[in-house]
Amino acid sequence: MTEPSATLILFGATGDLAHRMLFPSLYNLLGDGLLPEDFLIVASGRTATDDEGFRKDVDDALQKFLPADRYDAEQAGKLCGMVIYSPVEAGNADQFRALADRVSGRMDKGISVYLSTPPALFAPTAQGLADAGLVGPKTRIAMEKPIGKDLASSKVVNDAIGALFAEESIFRVDHYLGKETVQNLLALRFGNMLFEPLWNANAIDHVQITVGETVGLEGRVSYYDGVGALRDMVQNHMLQILSIIAMEPPARFDSTAVRDEKVKVLRSLRPMDGDSVKAQSVRGQYTPGAVAGQIVTGYVDELGKPSDTETFVALKGYIDNWRWTGVPFYLRTGKRMPARQSEILIQFKPVAHSIFGKRGGGTGLEPNTLIIRLQPEEKIRLLIMAKEPGLDGVKLREVGLDVSLDHEFGGQRRRIAYERLLLDLLEGDPTLFVRRDEVEAQWVWIDSIIDGWKEAGMKPASYASGNWGPSSAIALIERDGASWHD
Ligand code: BG6
Repeated sequence: MTEPSATLILFGATGDLAHRMLFPSLYNLLGDGLLPEDFLIVASGRTATDDEGFRKDVDDALQKFLPADRYDAEQAGKLCGMVIYSPVEAGNADQFRALADRVSGRMDKGISVYLSTPPALFAPTAQGLADAGLVGPKTRIAMEKPIGKDLASSKVVNDAIGALFAEESIFRVDHYLGKETVQNLLALRFGNMLFEPLWNANAIDHVQITVGETVGLEGRVSYYDGVGALRDMVQNHMLQILSIIAMEPPARFDSTAVRDEKVKVLRSLRPMDGDSVKAQSVRGQYTPGAVAGQIVTGYVDELGKPSDTETFVALKGYIDNWRWTGVPFYLRTGKRMPARQSEILIQFKPVAHSIFGKRGGGTGLEPNTLIIRLQPEEKIRLLIMAKEPGLDGVKLREVGLDVSLDHEFGGQRRRIAYERLLLDLLEGDPTLFVRRDEVEAQWVWIDSIIDGWKEAGMKPASYASGNWGPSSAIALIERDGASWHD
């Protein structure tokens, strides 16, 4: 492990992500004594303000976004004391020089740069830093998604940043990798003997990955329209989850070994085309309805104009390798779903031969199911067959073997995903960040679906808010004799 960076330069510091997530995460890291000695946070944005004005902003954000019982004025004051503000407009060399002056003498102690700006500013910001002499062997750079809107545009961004930083100094953020629950998938798969021998096409019938959200556009109109659920959620978060579920065991838990295995999975995703998208994908867009008892408007009403952007997508994907041949991976995600619920379901195959007769007695002999709930609560449930008590022959019934990780680790604070990621960035550990070849493999698959939709002229079907997408999403899986786990 390298020495942690003593300076964090945060671009987009006046934005929503910085207020909601990044400053509260830094506050928590400070509270746990995890920030380096002599730590300096250089906040930067287009807003013209000074150190004092911005510190007030940070304090307001901490009060607003930290849970009420976590805010402590003294600790907040300590964090604010580490923050200085330096306004920068991309392309303004004077402002970059002024920023460089404020960190002079600190380059040797390492600088981590965090770009929480619109992606169009990634390259000009990196260039501005380089021109001001701030890019050196101890400078790292982190970028938020989206990296491009397709493979070609992602290469332009990656080339521009790659011209100034070595790949090992580039930290592409996918905040799902910072979630304890997602890291726990690695523990479940590779910390236990139980699952691995069955984790393949011989024993598994299919896999489902659902990420449901109850929110709608949340004022993100300008970003979301034209992007849609496939690019916003599947290209990054869901494919990262899929790659962890499907990867071969890495030789060790390090950034190269883990990411080498993930990228192999991503490259094995079978591309779609104009024909396959019709059978293997569903696009949806929400209309007015009710979510959790609240009446909500439809997407086009929120947007104020007609749109072909999907707010829901369901896919049936295949991973063409030995482990997963013939096993469908059903993915679905959407806004205005009935519940905020993220989970993975592993459906095992039926036993090879039932000694209990065709129906297995009782409610019947069901194949085992493993359900890994990621959000809102973290739990793992294995459905197994058991004998119902009684003298009336052997009657079987499905029962749940439940592990509630929330309960098991109840005494511990649930960390913000960005705490892990900021700490790893400062310490220079890229294991939980996305490597360039992963992003590109993700785009290759996503592009094939988008091209397929264009070729097939597939527009989103409507679904009333508060439903799990259009009815065709149910048909997508039920045609195969399975059903979504809601
Ligand atoms: C973001 C997407 O990356 O992830 C949002 O842009 C989405 O549209 C969010 O709401 C979901 O994150 P989480 O952590 O709330 O599941």
